[in-house]
Amino acid sequence: MNAPTDIAAPAQALPARYYTDPEIYSRACEHIFAQSWHYACHATNAPEPGDYYAFTLMGQDLFVTRGRDGLLRCFYNVCQHRGHSLVEGSGRTRVLVCPYHAWSYELDGRLRAAPGSQALSGFDRSAICLTGVRLEVFLGFVFVNLAPQAKPMAECYPDVADAVLAFCPDIEERVFAHEYSAQEFCNWLVAVENYNECYHCGHVHKAFSEGVIDPGSYDIQPSGAGPVLRHSAKPAAGAGKWYDTSGSDYGSFYLFPLFSLQIYPGGVINTYYWRPLSHDDTEVHRGWFSRDGVVDDQLQSVIDRDRETTFAEDLALVRAVQRGLGSRGYRPGPLVISPACGINSEHSLAALHNWVREALG
Ligand code: FES
Ligand SMILES: [Fe+2]
Repeated sequence: MNAPTDIAAPAQALPARYYTDPEIYSRACEHIFAQSWHYACHATNAPEPGDYYAFTLMGQDLFVTRGRDGLLRCFYNVCQHRGHSLVEGSGRTRVLVCPYHAWSYELDGRLRAAPGSQALSGFDRSAICLTGVRLEVFLGFVFVNLAPQAKPMAECYPDVADAVLAFCPDIEERVFAHEYSAQEFCNWLVAVENYNECYHCGHVHKAFSEGVIDPGSYDIQPSGAGPVLRHSAKPAAGAGKWYDTSGSDYGSFYLFPLFSLQIYPGGVINTYYWRPLSHDDTEVHRGWFSRDGVVDDQLQSVIDRDRETTFAEDLALVRAVQRGLGSRGYRPGPLVISPACGINSEHSLAALHNWVREALG
């Protein structure tokens, strides 16, 4: 894995087909998304035994549930009788009962009862259980992987948990507070490239550049030996700051391909995760966390300002870029890479492109 600063300039923007070709998107689904760890929910979205949380990943309906033993598990959201889904949204239950013919499952996936099955000779209840999906809890954030043989997160992203803990020692005490999402009408790579460069921040994100960070100190560098980009900056200190940003710096950890943990100054934890829908559409989710799960007035004001400015500004950018990438008039330009890195350098995109090329072969 090359560090961005090792990459010889001038690197070019990727050819438009990386963002517009359904065939390249299918390869990304198979070689990247089907093999990687994806954010599912936070552990506090299912705090008690019997809690469940349903979601969709790469067209697969899944759910996370907490067993009587306190462990979180993930299953495909499909009954093993004739395929009805088992749960919707989130909630709490003692057993998982299929709405179709009332087969019921234990919280650990074992079939508990199948009405009328006594009539079947040789019916072996113990041979039937829900299909599990790999799950790991990473500092309170629940990740799943559709590949049964996937390497553990600690091998995919070495040293990152330690780096996050060194930066934000009490991160595991956070509780889910709020989430919203939006359709981006762009390829997933347009969305994560936009997230992983701040060359546009001074021009487009004026509110963020004055309210959250000190733009002159912004930089993005690899973290650990895995495909991780760490963003860092000093807090905003001027009159335009959104809240009392003193206490700790800004930091963000982007875990390739589709998740970023972002820590605003003073330890305001928030996340981005992206769900690719097709070669030219992606859903972005924005999560916020607090110490008690409550959105107090200060957090609400940060959420509102972020959503009205940075989030809305990025939505407009990525939608416009996707249209441009479909233009017959587009010829990919050079990435603007400064040897000194910093906010106006796109060295981080060169690293991202290497990971994509490596994964797609
Ligand atoms: S499909 Fe679930 S019980 Fe029949
Ligand atoms: Fe942006």
